[in-house]
Amino acid sequence: MRKWIVAGIGVVAAAVVAVWGVFYGIFPMVSDPGTITVERSIDRITRGQYLANNVMVCVDCHTVREVDLYSMPPARSLEFGGGLAFTREMGVPGNVVSPNISPGALREWSDGEVVRAIASGVSRDGRVLFPIMPYHAYGTLDREDIYAVVAYLRVIPPVNRPVAKSKVDFPMNLIMRTLPRDPSFHTRPHLRDPVAYGRYLATAAGCPDCHTRRDAQGRPSGPMLAGGQEFLYPERFLARSANITPDAETGIGNLTKEAFIARFKSRTDADYRQMAVARGRPQTLMPWWAYSGMTAEDLGAIYDYLRTVPAVKNKVVTFEPR
Ligand code: HEC
Ligand code: HEC
Repeated sequence: MRKWIVAGIGVVAAAVVAVWGVFYGIFPMVSDPGTITVERSIDRITRGQYLANNVMVCVDCHTVREVDLYSMPPARSLEFGGGLAFTREMGVPGNVVSPNISPGALREWSDGEVVRAIASGVSRDGRVLFPIMPYHAYGTLDREDIYAVVAYLRVIPPVNRPVAKSKVDFPMNLIMRTLPRDPSFHTRPHLRDPVAYGRYLATAAGCPDCHTRRDAQGRPSGPMLAGGQEFLYPERFLARSANITPDAETGIGNLTKEAFIARFKSRTDADYRQMAVARGRPQTLMPWWAYSGMTAEDLGAIYDYLRTVPAVKNKVVTFEPR
């Protein structure tokens, strides 16, 4: 009897080791970073500054937020210093903390390692990044745009501030190891093709990430851009993303291009940094302060793209106090 129990335990242990071996040996299926040197030209740095602050909004997730100011802008002089927490109370399977991506933390990283983290979701030490980090979207952009961001990250002021490590719960800690893949970079469409160019920008800006309902693993579970994705800030509010399909009644079908652009442009950085929001008053997670810095041309192209997605009737209440 004892022999059988010992054998049984042995079999179970071997199975656990095998599963572990698969998840930690085979995955992530991503190539080595390789030896790339991202030349820091002025053009690249300027483009990278625009992307990181106003389009891809790295700064929004990689900085602690001023939660009592409207649209929750980043805390001053801590930009790119990390520390924003996505917690179990918010519905995340674990406690995920955005890392410091200023030169204070990435100084030792090679350019290839930074590119791999952004576009494939694998950290310098091989750790797989929780997919709140939108590496899947970034891996489909233009290689040149990723290089521009890397060039910019090298020249920003270093923030030297320790940040807690992420901890992801079982089984997501294993599942997420299967998600990273090598990037499939695409050439950025030309502004002459505004719909394709607008779709590219919307992907880079994460509009579909927030404006489409998703399951706990981040896969779409509702119609594209029809809103309703929930963001819970415990003891503060529950926000839901708006329906931004062209439905006239419940989406933004009645919004003209001019009004759309003006809506972003009226929300300047300076306004946001000053507008305090009392508890219980409408607050949002949409980083209007960041996107307001997009050019009118780029916002117009996003609008043109949004006009082409199927109109979906879905009425969303975007704010509930808690
Ligand atoms: C929607 C939020 C979000 C956005 C936008 C975002 N990130 Fe992240 N990023 C994260 C989170 C969260 C992590 C940590 C994941 C983890 O610990 O598993 C992360 C991890 C990283 C890492 C890995 C660092 C390390 O120490 O392992 C790098 C590099 C990075 N992000 C760069 C960027 C850049 C550059 C951009 C903009 C182009 C960006 N991120 C945009 C949320 C975001
Ligand atoms: C972090 C999540 C998030 C991201 C990223 C995001 N949004 Fe939003 N958005 C929201 C939420 C939540 C609301 C509802 C509250 C509000 O109006 O701010 C909203 C509201 C809006 C509205 C107002 C709709 C209305 O009927 O009043 C528009 C337009 C919009 N978003 C467009 C965009 C576009 C375009 C992008 C990409 C450039 C984008 N959003 C990215 C979360 C997000």
